Amino acid sequence: MEESRIKATRVWSIFICAVALWRGPQPYTSKHKVRKTKLFSPLWLLTFLFLPAIAAPQQSSVENRINALIARMTLEEKLGQLQQLDGEANGNYRPEHIELVRRGLLGSTLNVRGARKTNELQRIAVEESRLKIPLIFAFDVIHGYRTIFPVPLAEASSWDPSLVERAASVAASEASAAGVKWTFAPMVDIARDPRWGRIVEGAGEDPYLGAVMARARVRGFQGRDYSASDKVLACAKHWVGYGAAEGGRDYNTTDISEIRLREVYFPPFKAAVDAGVGTFMSAFNDLNGVPASANPFTLTKVLRDEWKFDGFVVSDYESVKETINHGLAADESEAARLALNAGLDMEMISRFYGKHVPALIGNGKVSTATIDNAVRRILRIKFRLGLFDKPYADEEREKAVILSRANIEAARLVAARSIVLLKNEAKVLPLSKEVRSIAVIGALANDQAEMLGSWSGDGRKEDAVTLLEGIRSKVSRTTRVTYARGCSVSGVTATGADEKASIDEAVRAVRESDAAIVAVGESADMTGEAASRSSLDLPGRQLELVQALVATGKPLVIVLINGRPLTINWIVDNASAILETWFAGVQAGNAIADVLFGDVAPGGKLPITFPRTVGQIPIYYGHKNTGRPPDPANKYTSKYLDAPVTPLFPFGYGLSYTSFKLTNLRLSASTIRPDGHLAVTAEIENVGERVADEVVQLYIRDMVASVTRPVKELKGFERITLKPGEKRRVEFTLASEQLGFYDRNMRFIVEPGEFKVFLGTNSAEGLEATFRVLEK
Ligand code: BGC
Repeated sequence: MEESRIKATRVWSIFICAVALWRGPQPYTSKHKVRKTKLFSPLWLLTFLFLPAIAAPQQSSVENRINALIARMTLEEKLGQLQQLDGEANGNYRPEHIELVRRGLLGSTLNVRGARKTNELQRIAVEESRLKIPLIFAFDVIHGYRTIFPVPLAEASSWDPSLVERAASVAASEASAAGVKWTFAPMVDIARDPRWGRIVEGAGEDPYLGAVMARARVRGFQGRDYSASDKVLACAKHWVGYGAAEGGRDYNTTDISEIRLREVYFPPFKAAVDAGVGTFMSAFNDLNGVPASANPFTLTKVLRDEWKFDGFVVSDYESVKETINHGLAADESEAARLALNAGLDMEMISRFYGKHVPALIGNGKVSTATIDNAVRRILRIKFRLGLFDKPYADEEREKAVILSRANIEAARLVAARSIVLLKNEAKVLPLSKEVRSIAVIGALANDQAEMLGSWSGDGRKEDAVTLLEGIRSKVSRTTRVTYARGCSVSGVTATGADEKASIDEAVRAVRESDAAIVAVGESADMTGEAASRSSLDLPGRQLELVQALVATGKPLVIVLINGRPLTINWIVDNASAILETWFAGVQAGNAIADVLFGDVAPGGKLPITFPRTVGQIPIYYGHKNTGRPPDPANKYTSKYLDAPVTPLFPFGYGLSYTSFKLTNLRLSASTIRPDGHLAVTAEIENVGERVADEVVQLYIRDMVASVTRPVKELKGFERITLKPGEKRRVEFTLASEQLGFYDRNMRFIVEPGEFKVFLGTNSAEGLEATFRVLEK
């Protein structure tokens, strides 16, 4: 039965049952004059017949169809469904794919994109292959398909899940129009080591913020029903612990206790499951001695048995093969066996399943049921995606939606709302649009490609607005804008030339201008995959450039363009204003100019701690107290000899063009039962002169517990826009979900005792209150 027919049956069933219920139980009088109820009236019977059709028609008919298909599939065809292969860099499929698809030996591709190209290959699958099973086209749509939005770390800085959902939904609309029905996003890895280049792809260090963002992004990509023509299937990755790579070195080993996995690394994945995510990607890392792509604990026990996830898991790029390098599998065949038996359904790139499973089944090392289950999960998702009904992309829609005006506007809004103001001495910002002259300095101020950041989908540099362009189109016609490059980002120049002369030129430009805006940071390829750094300093001669410009005595506005926290202590001490803009996407220049000139007041907050020095890493706000918390008066406490223990900027930090006052923190009770709940309220007031946003953040601390708890844990937040003089009440609820933790037996419990509540506008300061959880 086709999906549309199933829906029609369902509608009819509801109608018939409604009529039956209405007309069914007619009392009547028998010839013996006894009033009876017509229990077996024909209409009642109809109700009983059609009820199951209402209850689970789709589910059962899809499951039946899957079973029927599996019954007809050869082992080769089943293994074909478990295989994903790469297209060419330009989005084409490879010549070998044609024959593989025709023979039913390929279930999915990655990187093949564009309505025409995907339709061509799809036509072979659904018209020429024996069982006509559609392909699923995947692509890394990480922060936009063609309309590139800010990098995910930036989006998390907005602390605005509805905005993040909107960004993902624009990405889904463009990707699906281009035939891509599956994105390898969101990346929900918690990361507490900014040396790791992939920190840019996630939501930062905190499990709560990470979970909120994971949910928002899954909703944005998938909507309520990912079979809709403008939605895509999402993929929570990288399952799991990948962000804890030792030393921040990509692909490196991880060793994470089960408590920490459950408390820190799992929550965003669980949030993705709760939001209905259809797929997971297993990670590259060795996790506690068992690589994540062959790890039965994470892939089966937690994901399937505990969380009841019924979608499928794809490996990461050759991560099945890499179990050999890890030293877990002796050879290809063992790699296939370990991954499959652990619960890994689809193999990306390496082809060990197809090659070795027939023999593994022959010798009983892999069961047919294991293969059938993997195939079943993949087919289930293909059905849910509606691919059997609507396998093709709409080339007309592709033309209409890609890079549409509405999408570009959304990108600008998200970018502006992701910007974080880190410093604003003497209210240098916002600048006046009427300023007579501005010097715009820095290689990053005039480079379209860099604005897109890493993993920029099908983004093109020509779509991007640079900072220089953004400023030029913002200021008055009489304002003179002078650009000077100053120096390269990396310090490596094409000619190998010393950059002294161009630094001098920048100094001259600043001297001769009334305002100076300096863009410094990282190039896009210094962030993302395989882009770990051992230093968080500004690369190349950029610090030297800023120092030379500061020496002019002119107030400098620093625009940071980067994908990770940087150790910018000198700049923090000496520049007048600092905006953290990350890689802000196609509308970067316009969005940054919106903030620089006050059309948008900055309201973003850091989703990650900025260290003062790389030696402080890992540094995150939700740490434990230790037995010897730092005490300046006592040498034998937990600190450094040569650096403070405090960060450069704490998690949740960000300033505004106005000032806010947070008052009247109140708890609805001073004691609650372990299963009770508590309201936390306060008032936030804009006491400045501009409309602006503040993010009120709620943290708790469980003071004493059978497993020690962090000194602070984020449990709620709200981004609020307030006019000057406006005051608003904020309210949060604390219940067992927020107050509980995993005990030594991995049970989630709430323990009696004292809790502290902190309400603030960053993780380091705020109002405090206390309550107690009573014994049961
Ligand atoms: C990355 C994944 C990505 C995959 C496919 C891998 O190298 O780790 O995040 O989805 O490639 O492009």
